[in-house]
Amino acid sequence: EKGGWASFMDKEIHEQPQAVADTLLGRFNLTGDLNLDEVRIDEDVFRSIDKIIVIACGTAAYAGMVAKYAIEHWVRIPVEVELAHEFRYRDPILTPRTLVVAISQSGETMDTLMALRHAREQGSRVLAICNTQGSSIPRESDAVLYTHAGPEIAVASTKAFVAQIVAAYVLGLYFAQVKGTMYHDEIRKIVDELRAMPAKIQHVLDTQGESVREAAEHSLDAESFLFLGRHVGYPVAMEGALKLKEIAYTFTEGFAAGELKHGPIALVDEGEPVVIIVPPARGRNVLHAKVISAIEEVRARGAYTIAVAEEGDDDVRDYADVVFWRPQCPTLLSPLVDVIPLQLFAMNMAELKGLDVDKPRNLAKSVTVE
Ligand code: F6R
Repeated sequence: EKGGWASFMDKEIHEQPQAVADTLLGRFNLTGDLNLDEVRIDEDVFRSIDKIIVIACGTAAYAGMVAKYAIEHWVRIPVEVELAHEFRYRDPILTPRTLVVAISQSGETMDTLMALRHAREQGSRVLAICNTQGSSIPRESDAVLYTHAGPEIAVASTKAFVAQIVAAYVLGLYFAQVKGTMYHDEIRKIVDELRAMPAKIQHVLDTQGESVREAAEHSLDAESFLFLGRHVGYPVAMEGALKLKEIAYTFTEGFAAGELKHGPIALVDEGEPVVIIVPPARGRNVLHAKVISAIEEVRARGAYTIAVAEEGDDDVRDYADVVFWRPQCPTLLSPLVDVIPLQLFAMNMAELKGLDVDKPRNLAKSVTVE
């Protein structure tokens, strides 16, 4: 039940610290080594994998995009991410050394199920990242890594998304461990950072509500929104845009910030709300300056700019009309905190418009037809 929350979505957004903590639970031993016995694929098989293809739809596919950045960086094997319905009907290249990772909250998405059947027929192994015990996708996969987000009732996915990202990190770190692409200490450091994420998510939930409300009230009458980000901020922008489409019925476009000058900037007009995910400035991150200049560009054309940025990032203040602050964390883990204010933003917009947050029109919680 909803408890004291206004909606299931509200409740589930606030359960995200727990969803992240629970998805990490029991997967590391005391020395920080990963232990994925539950997965039941031999270490030797993992060692032989030379390519990963993530198949998923919607929000789960955005979690897959985040996974690509992390796993390629940690494991140094190529990771492709493909919408399951596109993958299924295009004769993809699959070998016994390809691991197909099917990500699904419900475990019943027909597009994803058909794609995984195809992958297995072609001789590839399939590992499911799934939130629903005993559902079709894990049942038909070679292995499963469950997310422990608990039941997700609201149609718009929130806590399942962060849990999927965490499970993908766990998988990536496990790969790095068995393939020896990272030192034990490096893995351990990331594990410690992951364990600190629930408190950081909680901090965002505790502190950003007012700014989110302000931004939602200000842009309530906007006819469209642009969401942009780079690197892991790109899938976060896509996910923020999807949430707003789904529950506030607003036309949104999410894209990679580097594309702005290749076309989308033509859309920017006086008052257009633009949401920008700003990467950390620390560590001489070259992308930080590039994203800041994207904000400058759209601001100069009259955009109403909403930034998601790291606490202490003073460059942002000069160009953003509103900032949703996130605590410091490693760039690769930042989607776990950056998506939070965007979920709250979509929910606020839907509430202000008097819409049913949990049951948006035309949508079902699980899409069991192709
Ligand atoms: C977005 C949303 C959908 C699902 C997609 C996949 O909020 O809910 O985009 O993410 O239909 O569903 P699952 O993860 O159940 O396969």
